[in-house]
Amino acid sequence: MALSEKTKPPRHIAIIMDGNGRWAKQRGLPRTAGHAAGAEAFRRIANYCRTLGVEYLTVYAFSTENWKRSADEVAGIMKLLRRYLEEALRDMEKNRVRFCFFGDLSKLSPDLQELCCRARKQSEDYDVQVNFCLNYGGRDEIVQAARRFAQDVADGKRRSEELTEELLSTYLYSADVPDPELIIRPSGEKRTSNFLLWQSAYSEYVFMNVLWPDFSPADLDEAIEEYHRRNRRFGGV
Ligand code: IPE
Ligand code: IPE
Ligand code: MG
Repeated sequence: MALSEKTKPPRHIAIIMDGNGRWAKQRGLPRTAGHAAGAEAFRRIANYCRTLGVEYLTVYAFSTENWKRSADEVAGIMKLLRRYLEEALRDMEKNRVRFCFFGDLSKLSPDLQELCCRARKQSEDYDVQVNFCLNYGGRDEIVQAARRFAQDVADGKRRSEELTEELLSTYLYSADVPDPELIIRPSGEKRTSNFLLWQSAYSEYVFMNVLWPDFSPADLDEAIEEYHRRNRRFGGV
């Protein structure tokens, strides 16, 4: 049965995967256990998005500000990322997900950078796209785009008057990716925390009280239903 416009999932869903630490605390577990449960939730939701026919899933995994956390916690998150990417590389044929990475990967350890690079290259022919935001910050993304554009002007490849919203978009990590229609933030916090500042200009935000490790396909259904109840006007009437 064809899905009507009113029930069809958005083409691009973005998620701020928040609440791992509180989930662990509630159980008397170390924060890293919360991140491990968060990685499980990601696998579950990425699979579900594929079943629904979502074309792009962008997930906030580690922000430019998350380096402020303890060295132990950061190392624990990096270890989980490494494990996840190794697994993804092994199961690539089965999952058929195209991996992209948004963020300044140069600050990650060389082995993690290498894993990201291999995951991107080996999956480039698949079509469901997961954009992993690693050492990502919305402001940082705009700064690096401005810097690259300025360099192109200095090199004589561009003129400053040429710059439009469309052209600037091509300098962002998200070049070629449509803006997300829906951005979900679980955990009860109601802020963007530097996520997709440019791309979210007209996104619908859904804030939910569930903690990310508990996030289920039913929660995603609920967020999509809420999205369909919104009246998107884009500044019109
Ligand atoms: C999100 O969960 C994961 C990362 C930011 C890496 P948190 O670790 O922020 O969990 P809370 O917000 O402390 O509960
Ligand atoms: C946002 O969550 C970053 C990720 C989920 C990766 P944070 O937990 O870092 O955000 P704040 O500190 O609550 O704003
Ligand atoms: Mg948090």
